[in-house]
Amino acid sequence: MTLLDEARAVRENAHAPYSGFRVGAAVRGGSGRVYRGCNVENAAYPEGVCAETAAIAAMVAAGETELAEIAVIADGAAPVSPCGGCRQRMAEFAGPELRVVMGTTRGSSTAVTLGELLPMTFGSHRSRA
Ligand code: THU
Repeated sequence: MTLLDEARAVRENAHAPYSGFRVGAAVRGGSGRVYRGCNVENAAYPEGVCAETAAIAAMVAAGETELAEIAVIADGAAPVSPCGGCRQRMAEFAGPELRVVMGTTRGSSTAVTLGELLPMTFGSHRSRA
């Protein structure tokens, strides 16, 4: 199963009654293990979480802090592009070379690097005096 297939499968569990936009994400940790996440919306709208955030949280909860690859999928004319907050969360556990696969349930996908999605990243090295 490809990482995008893993994301497609977990998207079935998305809780998106407010936006109707169901998203699935899968990450591969440094160990090779795969962790899945879906978006989980809430009646208090800002409390919802993105699929990528959920997948990264599952990886960290399992004891891994090296993010090797990520895939995300949703329905739309074009592959879904991760939001700014999720890009920053990826940057916490990966470098600019991270492969980010973006897909649509309609069949197309594309891959970019985190460096392309989030240039001039703010990291802990920039917050030390
Ligand atoms: N969403 C994600 O889960 N990942 C993305 O990359 C884009 C947006 C979710 C958040 C919200 O539940 C819904 O999609 C609409 O924005």
